[in-house]
Formats: sequence, C-alpha cells, structure tokens
Amino acid sequence: MPNKKTTVAFSGTEEQEEALRKVIEEMKEEKGALMPILQKAQDIYGYLPKEVMKIISDETQIPMEKIYGVATFYSQFTLNPKGKYRISVCLGTACYVKGSGDIYNKLMEKLGIVGGECTPDGKFSLDACRCVGACGLAPVMMINDEVYGRLTVDDIDDILAKYE
Ligand code: FES
Repeated sequence: MPNKKTTVAFSGTEEQEEALRKVIEEMKEEKGALMPILQKAQDIYGYLPKEVMKIISDETQIPMEKIYGVATFYSQFTLNPKGKYRISVCLGTACYVKGSGDIYNKLMEKLGIVGGECTPDGKFSLDACRCVGACGLAPVMMINDEVYGRLTVDDIDDILAKYE
C-alpha cells in the first residue's frame, strides 16, 4: 500500500517543534481543530512524520489511531517526505497507453519503494501524476523540473545514474 509508512529517519529541528507546539496551543480548544492542526504541521515539516503525530496526540488528547486515520484518509496529507530528487511518472491516458505503468513499476523495483514513498537516504521520492501537458512525448516522467520523454524501461538505469 503506498504512502503508509515513513522510510526516512525523522530530522525535525527545535524551531519546527516550537512552531508546532505554538500552533497546537492556539488551536486545540477549537472544535474540529485536528484538520487545521495537521495542515499547519505539514506546512512546518513538509510531511507528517509519526513523531509529529505523537506530539499532536499528546497535546490534544486525540488518540494516535484517529490522527493516523485522518492523515492517511485525506490525500492532501503525506506521511513521507519528498526526496532530494522528486520523480513523478505521468499515468495520464496518453502516457499510460504508451507504457508509463511499466516505467513506474521499474522505478519501484529499482528504488525499492512504492509510489508515495522516499528512499531511506532521502534521495529519491516517487509519485504518479496526471497529465503534465507533454503528451507528444509520451510516456513521460519528471525528476524535479526536468522532463524525460519517449521513455522505455531500459532508459531508467541511465537516467537514475545521472543523479547518483
Ligand atoms: S498524459 Fe502524460 S503528458 Fe499528457
């Protein structure tokens, strides 16, 4: 299942924790505060590490299971950080019919992660995306702002090697 566990060690700073605690303090008495608190927490950390959900749980007395349930249910939340290199494979129709599903599978196999995750060294994260408007180059993937088109699975090793 994608996006269910964090593979990268937590590295939050004291400043981030201070900002988080301030947000919780300000909002926790309000009704329905959990969603906005999680949103702010994600703004602060870029994702929702379990260490952060634990602080939220301790401070608000909302059980971890509930917090985890909300964080995994809504697609705007992510439990994984993005990598230094963010790989996004287009699974839009034009790319899909030209084999982007195979590219995506090959990347999962090669990186040892599933979609939505990040490699433990923080280097690569992998996601699927919708049409990026480069259908003429299908199948397409992006690594950060770089677009790679007319891909075959055999191109993957060489492309990743550029980022080693
Ligand atoms: S469907 Fe992939 S770029 Fe349009």
